[in-house]
Amino acid sequence: MKILAIETSCDDTCAAVLDNDWVLSNIISSQTDLHAKWGGVVPDIAKRAHSERIEPVIAEAILRSGILGSNKGKLKKEKIEEIILQGMKKIEVIGVTQGSGLAIALGIGVNKAKELAKKYSKKLVAVNHIEGHILSNLVKNKNGNPQRELKLPALAMTASGGHTKLIWIEKIGKYKVVGETLDDAAGEALDKASKMLGLGYPGGPVVERLAKTGKTDFIKLPQPLADKKILDYSFSGLKTSFYYKIKDWPAEQIGTNLNNLAASFQNAVFETLLRKFRLAAEKYQPRMLLVSGGVMANLDLRKRLRKMAKELDLPILMPTQKNLNTDNAAMIGVAAYHKALRGEFVEDIDKLDRDPRMEI
Ligand code: KG4
Ligand code: ZN
Repeated sequence: MKILAIETSCDDTCAAVLDNDWVLSNIISSQTDLHAKWGGVVPDIAKRAHSERIEPVIAEAILRSGILGSNKGKLKKEKIEEIILQGMKKIEVIGVTQGSGLAIALGIGVNKAKELAKKYSKKLVAVNHIEGHILSNLVKNKNGNPQRELKLPALAMTASGGHTKLIWIEKIGKYKVVGETLDDAAGEALDKASKMLGLGYPGGPVVERLAKTGKTDFIKLPQPLADKKILDYSFSGLKTSFYYKIKDWPAEQIGTNLNNLAASFQNAVFETLLRKFRLAAEKYQPRMLLVSGGVMANLDLRKRLRKMAKELDLPILMPTQKNLNTDNAAMIGVAAYHKALRGEFVEDIDKLDRDPRMEI
């Protein structure tokens, strides 16, 4: 089954072509540069960038997938329409992120998917962004690797700029949220701390780099929602406490301790993530752990997660490539593939609408 997948829920314009769950191409046009100077994602800028980029990104995904034969040349602007036309002759199913995410950004992907599905009479699958993140662990490359077996029931943790959730997976397509953040997402907390330190957006990667040489106990931060019965997260208290600790420091003191501040804050965020993940695993007794989302690109966190899984004697899956942690269309394609196998297509394409608050 050849699938075209589209993802525009935040600030990356993404398209991928898959053959079942084998990913033939995975194109990500990042808008980070456009948003960086504003210190976060600006919806209007994202909308405009998605509109300008969606067709070239889809054409690029079709071209690189090889479904039109081998083509190593650069994508030419005047060829975009023709490539999409030829590509759509080979594609059987279109999958698109319906939600959750930024409404006006989601709208661009959803409308493009609807337009293509109608124009070329294709089946359409509406995908939940969080399910995509979970299933990013099952992405296979164009040779069908890695061959991972999902051991069910499983427990997943997704942590990104928009979400932090613990999800119980009974089977693919059947999920239950067992814990989630009550305020900021983990990535959002890192982004805000980064902004306070004048380190720019997105915060995760720069905080990670500085934290490598810093002391995690340089400043003491609270343990949010320490109660062992609570599986929810909270990160806004951490951020506020961090702010008050350093607010009267001279710029020079902050400047010379950036690595220590980054390490202390990052450690506090990761401690919380790990603590609640462990509690949920002990409570629900899954057969496997899965993690996903932009924050999981962090190597220190990955190391600590592996250690935790070993202590719990559980196998753990993490996305195999950096760009499968952050937003991408390959994961949306895998989710669309499983929904298509179950026959879960959009019944009335005209009625499909973006769903910014879509629940899993
Ligand atoms: O999954 P994602 O691309 O988008 C959302 O769905 O939100 O996640 C982006 C988030 C940002 O908050 C960013 O700071 C964080 O993931 N992030 C990281 C790293 N790379 C990205 N956090 C920690 N360490 C990283 N290396
Ligand atoms: Zn995401």
